[in-house]
Amino acid sequence: MTWRNRNLYLIGLPGAGKSAIGRELSELLRRYRYSFVDLDIETERLAGQPIPEIFAKHGEARFRDLETQALLNVSTTNGSHYIIATGGGVMMKPLNRSIIRGSGIPIWIDVTVRDAAKNVLGDILRGKDRPLFRAASADELKEKLRILLEERRPYYEQATLHFVTRSVRGDERTPPELAKELLTALDKMSLHVALKPPHRTLLAHSALGDYPILVGSGIACRELSQTILDAGYTKAIVITDNNVDSLHGKELITKLQKEIRKQCDLYKIVIDAGEAKKSQETLGTILERLHEIDANRRSTLIVSFGGGVITDIAGFAASLYHRGLPLVHIPTTLLAQADAAIGGKTGIDMFGAKNLIGTFYPPRQILVDPLYLKTLPKRELHAGLAEVFKYALIGSADLWQSLAKSVRRLIRGVDTSYEEIIYSSIIEKLRYVEADEFERKQGIRELLNFGHTFGHALESASNYALLHGEAVLLGMRGAAWLSMKNKYIDEAAWIEIESVLGRIPIKGEIIFSVEDAVRMFKKDKKGSNRVILLRKIGEAFVDEISDAAVRETLEYLFTLA
Ligand SMILES: NC(=O)c1ccc[n+]([C@@H]2O[C@H](COP(=O)([O-])OP(=O)(O)OC[C@H]3O[C@@H](n4cnc5c(N)ncnc54)[C@H](O)[C@@H]3O)[C@@H](O)[C@H]2O)c1
Repeated sequence: MTWRNRNLYLIGLPGAGKSAIGRELSELLRRYRYSFVDLDIETERLAGQPIPEIFAKHGEARFRDLETQALLNVSTTNGSHYIIATGGGVMMKPLNRSIIRGSGIPIWIDVTVRDAAKNVLGDILRGKDRPLFRAASADELKEKLRILLEERRPYYEQATLHFVTRSVRGDERTPPELAKELLTALDKMSLHVALKPPHRTLLAHSALGDYPILVGSGIACRELSQTILDAGYTKAIVITDNNVDSLHGKELITKLQKEIRKQCDLYKIVIDAGEAKKSQETLGTILERLHEIDANRRSTLIVSFGGGVITDIAGFAASLYHRGLPLVHIPTTLLAQADAAIGGKTGIDMFGAKNLIGTFYPPRQILVDPLYLKTLPKRELHAGLAEVFKYALIGSADLWQSLAKSVRRLIRGVDTSYEEIIYSSIIEKLRYVEADEFERKQGIRELLNFGHTFGHALESASNYALLHGEAVLLGMRGAAWLSMKNKYIDEAAWIEIESVLGRIPIKGEIIFSVEDAVRMFKKDKKGSNRVILLRKIGEAFVDEISDAAVRETLEYLFTLA
């Protein structure tokens, strides 16, 4: 894998010459569509004020948040690449390090403290205010930089390329010369270093703490071990089901063991697969094991590793034990990657009702690795597609267009386009979750129930012979039909929706009657007939419909089965 399709992040002490070298390098790489970005300037642009003012008015913590946001903005490049001169402290934050290694190549521009001090002093004399480097004398400045280097060295050393700017003979080289040398060093590096798979980072905002969602094929083990090492967890407990365990459990644990060596004890809790196990009994078993392992909030990480059943129940157990253990989700089904693991809802089924008991509990991180989908049975994959199409129909006509174009390919099986559609679905889901995190408002997160109101009735009436996604797929077709019948969307839009959704196979048998489905609808909705309908492709709304409309829609759905 060549470095030429990745961002190049120049890291190192203030005064290392990152901006000067970066500018020159971008000139040399112009034909490869590289351009130069100064992260400090991006941060100022984002804040709408200069850095000294951010420090003075809001403090360093605010500056660091803005810097991370600026980094996120430049990390998701679309076709073009950047050479980014970063601030000296950027590598101190685990999230920043993850964004950098996911989207590019960190290059340590290594200068002597003496040279760095000379350059910083030069900047100050030219009138640049450097709030972190106000010093009474050159010696004090040098001492500040020396301390900084010792503190930051372990993180600078994580760079893929270590570029020492002082030469053996001690002669000074100009930025254009250094840029040329760096280019040669990069080419040499690609001959010896196998670049790690990239990932994209999204930051989910939660009132209980923001958390990153990393999306990339082949990243799960690497990023999980890094998280364990960064946070210093001494115990990690992987909760999974027997299917996922037999396919991927051993590999995950072996790779983790290799990466984290003796720093963290690994445990595994394996439950039987299936919705029936999202129960009080299983929850009890998990909590008992957490107690045996002596899990605690400070040093134990819970890793949910599986489909939506696992992310729901492991998330719920994590939220309960010791009033909340740190949690990382590694969803392994399409449904869980695009939907169930996102948004912080956890829970179990009880008293015959789905998700009756649960919590809102945001994880510390979500690692979405589409490589796991390669082993997912086709039927599960198709069921997962339902939720992806749901996000398009309720909120994004653009996503709908691109899904509609590729529906045949998506049905055939997993390819690289899956990563893209999962990424887009997560962005869509986050819009609803962030607007109404705890589902207290009407008509926002509620829209995510598109297809679910009729779907739940069918799922329950089938006694779960229909997979959740299959039932939702039918439910969406029912809701689209009703939207057309009530003249909210025109017939052409309905035909378009049918021609796309109708292609997705449904394997579950409909062995129940319309009466059963109506009964289940009533039980599920507890007297209300609130459903989500479409105003157009890409826009949904909440509507209260009549009993007759409920029955008619369910009758229509039976004609499809
Ligand atoms: N919390 C939420 O916001 C939310 C949202 C939507 C759905 N959900 C819940 O998600 C659950 C459904 O999720 P699901 O469809 O992922 O079900 P699931 O967890 O039961 O997984 C489906 C099947 O796929 C297997 N599997 C998982 N990963 C695999 C892989 N990589 N290769 C091969 N087999 C694999 C599982 O063992 C299982 O048999 C439901 O309980 C639903 O209520 C929750």
